[in-house]
Amino acid sequence: MSEQDKPNLLQKVLSALNRLVMFVVAAVLLVAIILAWPLITNNGPVKYADIDDHFKYASIGGESTSGIPYWIWKVLPVMFSDKLPGEGYPSLGFIQEPGQDLPIGFAKGTYLGLDVVTQNCATCHTGSVRTTRDSKPQIISAMPSNTVDLEGYIKFVSEVPLDPRFNAREMMPEIDAIGANLNPLEKLIYRYIAIPRTRDSLITQASKFAFLERESAYGPGRVDTFTPYKALRFNFPIDQLDDSELNGIGDFPSIWRQGPRQGMQLHWDGNNTSVDERNNSAALALVTPTNIDFDSIYRVRDWLWDLPAPAYPYEINADLAAAGKTVFQNNCASCHAFNGPYVGKVVPIEEIGTDPARLNSYTYELASNQYTLFTGVSYRGQDQRFQHFRKTNGYANHPLDGTWLRAPYLHNGSVPTLRDLLERPENRPQVFYRGDDVFDPENLGFVSDVAEEDTHQYFKFDTTLPGNSNSGHLYGTDLSPTEKDALVEYMKQL
Ligand code: HEC
Ligand code: HEC
Repeated sequence: MSEQDKPNLLQKVLSALNRLVMFVVAAVLLVAIILAWPLITNNGPVKYADIDDHFKYASIGGESTSGIPYWIWKVLPVMFSDKLPGEGYPSLGFIQEPGQDLPIGFAKGTYLGLDVVTQNCATCHTGSVRTTRDSKPQIISAMPSNTVDLEGYIKFVSEVPLDPRFNAREMMPEIDAIGANLNPLEKLIYRYIAIPRTRDSLITQASKFAFLERESAYGPGRVDTFTPYKALRFNFPIDQLDDSELNGIGDFPSIWRQGPRQGMQLHWDGNNTSVDERNNSAALALVTPTNIDFDSIYRVRDWLWDLPAPAYPYEINADLAAAGKTVFQNNCASCHAFNGPYVGKVVPIEEIGTDPARLNSYTYELASNQYTLFTGVSYRGQDQRFQHFRKTNGYANHPLDGTWLRAPYLHNGSVPTLRDLLERPENRPQVFYRGDDVFDPENLGFVSDVAEEDTHQYFKFDTTLPGNSNSGHLYGTDLSPTEKDALVEYMKQL
């Protein structure tokens, strides 16, 4: 072999290095693909076979706009426990079932390969009942979320991004400590994308909710139905909203047995006669017309169609209830029985006399804007555009099935028990507590005179604040005490 044929040392080293680099690049790529594989393939929400689980835990869409990356959502109440009234999200009244990862009303889905947490119908439409203070709560889907302080939650997620501790350097170790076990790629995504982006979007969202400072506190079981809608979906200049449109605070309603309600003018002010539009419009509190999951919502719709109100589980005095039936027929049925001539119609505000704020918050301007939503969106060949919203002049007569689980009463939840509703407004409680789930069979409603339990404070509801008036609905207030006893007994079984 001549000198020239011999590959020189430098060349040898170079080609070895070259191979090494190629190998390292290939190995890195391979590892990256293996790590990213779940992210690439794992798309779509968690599915539930059982419809009740679907209602409580499945996504209805919204991942791309309101999803909070799972581990951020998990670590927030740990890192920022100083901003919560107690331990974790349940301290805001969210129901945590044993063995479940998330509280009721929260759903796990994915966005850009990352697990995210969104909210669903059960946030506002699933409650709990205790027979006594010591008994185990019974969880009832489709009843109002009587314990849930949604405003407390909105305020919590509005405050945390402004805290200087909301940064990757401080959050990543905490996320590790609660057992995230993220792989290196996920760690990079969390550190450089998820945390800063979540911070930004929570700050933007918080600015949309600045109107909360101008409103009465909701307390558990209530929300301003349409102001968030105006802010989030239509970007109305919310700081310029007239005071007369504020405080349209509605009690969460029960949503069982929607079938017989088709065609009725419902929502508290009777502004829509279509069940599907009421469902879809409710969903828009959480999703947008482009990321709504119609399959998920229509599955809920089909179930709610016939779902009966739960039967009253406690003792009923049959004779007294029979007497009460006559009182109900004579005084209430025309407006409240399923076959009543006025049920599902609106009683003008001058006549019903209840608080006008919720009625006034729904405006012609909002109605006309709602008609632009879902333009060009169809589901199974059906145009999803809203066509049934109307501005009304009062509040609707609802069928009263499941009355026992619907307290506090009236559209703004200003009257704690049925017995109180049968008193003239000046004799109804001026101040009472909301958020308790201990049942009061005597007065029909939840216990409303207990300020705190262990360390949990119940919400002090003041009927003199804007939107909170307990006036109006004088029906039945002139009945004799015996007639009232009988009526309450009868209405337990509705
Ligand atoms: C943020 C809380 C919240 C969420 C989430 C929510 N709702 Fe509601 N829902 C309400 C409130 C409050 C009302 C009463 C609205 C009003 O008239 O002011 C209501 C009203 C309704 C009604 C009309 C009830 C009646 O008889 O008038 C239906 C039906 C309904 N919701 C279904 C749903 C469905 C289905 C979902 C999920 C897709 C959902 N809601 C999500 C709070 C919520
Ligand atoms: C003329 C029609 C009319 C009659 C008669 C009537 N109501 Fe009502 N009722 C209404 C309207 C309208 C509302 C909604 C008012 C509001 O929320 O501002 C309502 C609300 C209620 C609610 C609250 C429902 C809830 O989910 O919070 C109860 C309970 C109730 N009525 C019971 C009765 C009883 C009991 C009688 C008979 C003694 C009666 N009503 C007679 C029209 C009527």
